[in-house]
Amino acid sequence: MQDQEPVEILYLQVAESLATPIRAGTLVRGERIPSVRELARSRDVSVGTVLQAYRILEDAHLIEARPRSGYFVAARPPRLPEPETSNPPADSMAVDVSSLAARVMHLAHDPGYASFGAACPGAELFTEERVRRAVSRAVQHHRATLCQYTTGYGDESLRRAIARHALRMGCQIDPRDVVVTNSCLESITLCLRAVTRPGDIIALESPTLFAFLEILENLHLRALEIPTHPRTGFSLDALQLAFDTQPIKAVLAVPTLSNPIGSSIPLADRRRLAQMVAERGIPLIEDVLYNDFAEHEDQRQAVRSFDTTGHVMICGSFSKTIAPGLRLGWVDAGRWGAKLVRMKESTSGSQTTIIERALADLLAQPGIEAGYRQIRATIAARVDEARGLIARHFPGGTRVTDPRGGFILWLELPHGIDSLDLFQACLAESIVIAPGKMFSATNHFRHCIRLGLGGRWDDAHRHALRRVGELAETMALSRVARG
Ligand SMILES: Cc1ncc(COP(=O)(O)O)c(C=O)c1O
Repeated sequence: MQDQEPVEILYLQVAESLATPIRAGTLVRGERIPSVRELARSRDVSVGTVLQAYRILEDAHLIEARPRSGYFVAARPPRLPEPETSNPPADSMAVDVSSLAARVMHLAHDPGYASFGAACPGAELFTEERVRRAVSRAVQHHRATLCQYTTGYGDESLRRAIARHALRMGCQIDPRDVVVTNSCLESITLCLRAVTRPGDIIALESPTLFAFLEILENLHLRALEIPTHPRTGFSLDALQLAFDTQPIKAVLAVPTLSNPIGSSIPLADRRRLAQMVAERGIPLIEDVLYNDFAEHEDQRQAVRSFDTTGHVMICGSFSKTIAPGLRLGWVDAGRWGAKLVRMKESTSGSQTTIIERALADLLAQPGIEAGYRQIRATIAARVDEARGLIARHFPGGTRVTDPRGGFILWLELPHGIDSLDLFQACLAESIVIAPGKMFSATNHFRHCIRLGLGGRWDDAHRHALRRVGELAETMALSRVARG
């Protein structure tokens, strides 16, 4: 028996060996874990050691005992109701969100504020040293490129690395079709420019990322928001109806961990979505930025993997997983590839080869998957904790999403609380939240807020989150007092 080691170390080791895969989503909620005796046998430790480890995991709300059934991976505590499927108007709308979004984003990056405004992992979650070494190597080996013009689709080694990366999402992409861009948002902008003209209607999730709305605003496109469920993404029946009744020119979607609502379209619906757009000849612009953050394998498979006709334009970047500062994205625009390349060349040309080489180097490193897992595990624990604080400190009637990965929570506050007022009240206490109005062309989400939990997370931030709840509570009470 291995129990010769100090018992307190052993039970912590056993607990950690289960906590890590639970937080990373390798062991999924509701899954049965070994019984105390089974685990004791397989780990060669005493029953008492396993019991102690399970007690720690229960205290951390990671596992739960069910009478006469054993131990299971727990649902995230505590259970709060989730928002319901959104119900946007059936007509398309012009967009006007950019001034509010610009203000919030400016404040969200100001170090003087406790910020839940932005949606990006903080610098400490990236392996900066690894990135620095890759950039140094690239400078050493490719410095000649600094004084040369580069043209075309992007560095070949990076395009090959991106095609390999796409295999993880079930996509067979020819490296020759990959175009390297400055960011995922540049990829999306180019796709929209390639397939639309001013005045055209674009279908998207509701709520959706404010940056998408800003792009629509800049390109004078109209938004048609599609009812979206916080778990399963937009309703394909509603999308079908929209196809039948409106002249939709493109669909823009984040099928995995959409921002801000965190939804992921079920696998069968991904296949159906690929078929629907192919039948109608409508391009689907698929943003796969968060696929590596998904808890489950199924969620990672891109809609593009079901595309047999070239109607899915797949866009990504490594801003959230490797390093936001590298500023590189990519796109394979399917049947619109040639048009997109012409637009890219006449807009921003190509990127800095040295940075492209550094990213290709990083993508080829064996530790890359472990890096994704590490970020996934860290943010999962944080999101659990934040949901607990929200349950305790936000007004009754608050609903919050329970995303299967990522670091973004979407909260529906009791009706009557105006999130712009809450935003202002938070600012007065040096806290930044993102008000719901930023995430829709409609006025449907005034009582909602988005919380980005990827940034710094310490006691000051825990306190700040409690304060957001208390301020919302005060607003809820004064609403009741006003009758
Ligand atoms: C869904 C989604 N796509 C794209 C982006 C931006 O990515 P990039 O920095 O590569 O443009 C974000 C950032 O918040 C996002 O949430």
